[in-house]
Amino acid sequence: MNNTTLAPLIVGIGGTVRTGSATEVALKVALHAAEMRGARTMGFFGSDLTRLGYYPSDQAGALRQSLVSAIREADGFVIASPAYHGSVSGLVKNALDYIEDTASDVRPYLNDRPVGLITCAFGWQAIGSTLAALRSITHALRGWPTPFGVGLNTSERIFADGQCTDAKAKSQLELVGTQVFEFASTRFEHSNKRGAA
Ligand SMILES: Cc1cc2nc3c(=O)[nH]c(=O)nc-3n(C[C@H](O)[C@H](O)[C@H](O)COP(=O)(O)O)c2cc1C
Repeated sequence: MNNTTLAPLIVGIGGTVRTGSATEVALKVALHAAEMRGARTMGFFGSDLTRLGYYPSDQAGALRQSLVSAIREADGFVIASPAYHGSVSGLVKNALDYIEDTASDVRPYLNDRPVGLITCAFGWQAIGSTLAALRSITHALRGWPTPFGVGLNTSERIFADGQCTDAKAKSQLELVGTQVFEFASTRFEHSNKRGAA
């Protein structure tokens, strides 16, 4: 992890509870690509998401605080959801619902920040609908979906032993991480210059 606070922070949210989740591995590949280019990264993965069922009152405690603080601080995001019944999984959506905590902030929701989107499905059909749902959520939250989004068909055995073993899929995931980093860096430098002026 790149720890310099002068680097943009990219926050990843996603995965499933399945051990060795392809969605979680995919998210980590994209975050790693951003990190290799100089980003700081932070991730909320499957085991975190199980503890984040959405309650408007404070039942998710410290983890909720940590998620919402990360969202507030973030310069960019990568969100990765499995396709569950043709759409975003409940676990991922529950975590995203906490973005509502930022509604009254000066910079609410995902405002003005890039969002890389990834979906994993066990077939082709649900990839398009889930990616479209993630893009709709991002637009609703005033984020900027990156031009490239990744849809992966895990029935093609492109993940094994906690790794993405397919060169093309891996390069697509890296591209999303890179696009988030590049967009975030441009805005990060711009706002630092404005702050210094
Ligand atoms: C509740 C549930 C619903 C699912 N619905 C779909 C679906 O509609 N279409 C599809 O292609 N795959 C579906 N899948 C398969 C997952 O999308 C697929 O396994 C994906 O790669 C997530 O894998 P992961 O748990 O390894 O991250 C479903 C899986 C579960 C558990």
